[in-house]
Amino acid sequence: MWKPVLVILCVCYFVQSARYLGLFPTSTGSHYILDFKLMKALADAGHDVTFVSPTKQKEPLKTKGNFTDLELEGFAEIMQKAMVEFNPFEINKKSFLTMMKLMMTIFVDSTNATMHHPKILQLLNSNEKYDAVIMEHFQNDALKVFSAVFNCPLIILFSLGPNSWINPTVGNPSEISYIRHFFASGNPTEPMTFLERTKNLFFYVVDYFLAFYISLPQHQQLVNSVLENPPNIYDSYFNASLVLLNSHTSIYAPQPLVPSMVEIGGYHIDPPKKLPQDLQDFLDSAKDGVVYFSMGSNLKSKNMPDDRKKIFLNVLGRLKQKVIWKFEEDLPGKPSNMLIKKWLPQQDILAHPNVRLFITHGGLLSTTETIYHGVPILAIPVFGDQPANAERAQYAGYALKLDYHDTNFTEERLSYLINELLNNPKYRENVQRRSKLFHDRPMKPKDTAVYWMEYVVRNNGARHLRVGGINIPWYQYYLLDVMLVLTVMVSIVLYAVIFILRRICRKLRSKVHPVKKVKKQ
Ligand SMILES: *[C@@H]1O[C@H](CO)[C@@H](O)[C@H](O)[C@H]1NC(C)=O
Ligand SMILES: *[C@@H]1O[C@H](CO)[C@@H](O)[C@H](O)[C@H]1NC(C)=O
Ligand SMILES: *[C@@H]1O[C@H](CO)[C@@H](O)[C@H](O)[C@H]1NC(C)=O
Ligand SMILES: *[C@@H]1O[C@H](CO)[C@@H](O)[C@H](O)[C@H]1NC(C)=O
Repeated sequence: MWKPVLVILCVCYFVQSARYLGLFPTSTGSHYILDFKLMKALADAGHDVTFVSPTKQKEPLKTKGNFTDLELEGFAEIMQKAMVEFNPFEINKKSFLTMMKLMMTIFVDSTNATMHHPKILQLLNSNEKYDAVIMEHFQNDALKVFSAVFNCPLIILFSLGPNSWINPTVGNPSEISYIRHFFASGNPTEPMTFLERTKNLFFYVVDYFLAFYISLPQHQQLVNSVLENPPNIYDSYFNASLVLLNSHTSIYAPQPLVPSMVEIGGYHIDPPKKLPQDLQDFLDSAKDGVVYFSMGSNLKSKNMPDDRKKIFLNVLGRLKQKVIWKFEEDLPGKPSNMLIKKWLPQQDILAHPNVRLFITHGGLLSTTETIYHGVPILAIPVFGDQPANAERAQYAGYALKLDYHDTNFTEERLSYLINELLNNPKYRENVQRRSKLFHDRPMKPKDTAVYWMEYVVRNNGARHLRVGGINIPWYQYYLLDVMLVLTVMVSIVLYAVIFILRRICRKLRSKVHPVKKVKKQ
């Protein structure tokens, strides 16, 4: 008698579709890949998805649920201009503070432009109902108030692993004593020295200060200038129901995660597709293997200075391997073993068994994809988290690194590193081992992502996952107030004991050996 009811209940449960609003106004390059893939996964699962971003898919997607592109015209150009101004190839000539300030200005301006965009204003004043708002956390905190506006849960995508930028939003512990700040160098598997820990603390404190005393007040102003009853941005900041991290223990050092933080690193990778015929032929015919070289989508190889290009051309041209270089314009003096293209299907190339080495800027997506396919890398980090990614890969034994800004960036050195990676089998063995760890999980990362985003909606914001540490000030979180009081109390008691003992000693001495023994020989 119950069976039909159960069946109906189950069917209802599975076809229940929710409405998700994805806010990704500054999504370019690798970020677009991450953001788009996440929202598409929801639409594939049958949900109704609105995707706010600077671009539009060229063709309408064939997904189970509705996928609506909401294109913010003009944003792609704004971001491109900002990237030129930022000029990562020259960034080492700027100081750390100048860099941070520049970055903050870029993102306050772009968030402001988002809040004032006619389509966003329209959305804010619409009577649309959403079941959850999804956004990428990247110096754009003003967007978090959309969750308050639509009175629905906030889901955050973070393009890196757990770190000082994201941890405070859900009260995740920042293990400053043994997790290196993601800009700090050093072997992640070795304990830090006293000085390193001090420096680490400094990095974390600077991040905290910038976020809470400089960035958030600015974003509150942006919110105030657009909304009539502006929500308090600090409330929204600490209100996230779920944080999806683009990391995994096969790539990052392990660290504790609160229940509302879930790792989905690698979810953007699709099973390999068929290559275009010219690439397929080029790769198939490379009997000595192929070196694949790409600096990612935000850094353009064509913008490198000429002497640097020459170094690459000379070294790569001398290899017996074939070379594929993602290069965005004509390349005079291109050697005969080289194929250049301005866009390449990176994941499908890495999947080809003839690829022996990947020369990369060490961005997190590239590092993740190389682990997925088990290809060793030569990392040439330029800025941001790239040096740290490169260093991590080097310590994990599947990479060598040559900093783009290294003063010793010469043909000899580059040639030495490439040949070492091609001829010493240990790098390949190490990356294959990582690859095995990467694939050994209970659920595919994309399914994990969809499961948790549905879970949040199904359970009304999943507020039971929130840890108590979100709501208390930092000095209470770290028990500094208790330690201070205890230290003072213990000091007072110690002082009193010493004071009394001294008195007693003095009295005893003067009684037993008057005067004589007080002076030592
Ligand atoms: C998709 O959009 C159509 C037309 O706007 C609507 O009728 C339908 O309910 C939507 N589907 C979902 C799964 O929300
Ligand atoms: C934000 O944009 C508006 C309209 O474009 C402008 O009037 C305002 O000055 C900007 N605010 C900031 C803080 O840049
Ligand atoms: C906090 O999240 C809940 C849903 O979990 C939402 O209803 C509420 O409006 C949010 N509040 C703020 C201030 O963002
Ligand atoms: C520069 O590279 C060469 C060749 O690998 C190496 O012998 C030399 O020690 C390096 N110099 C410095 C200062 O690192």
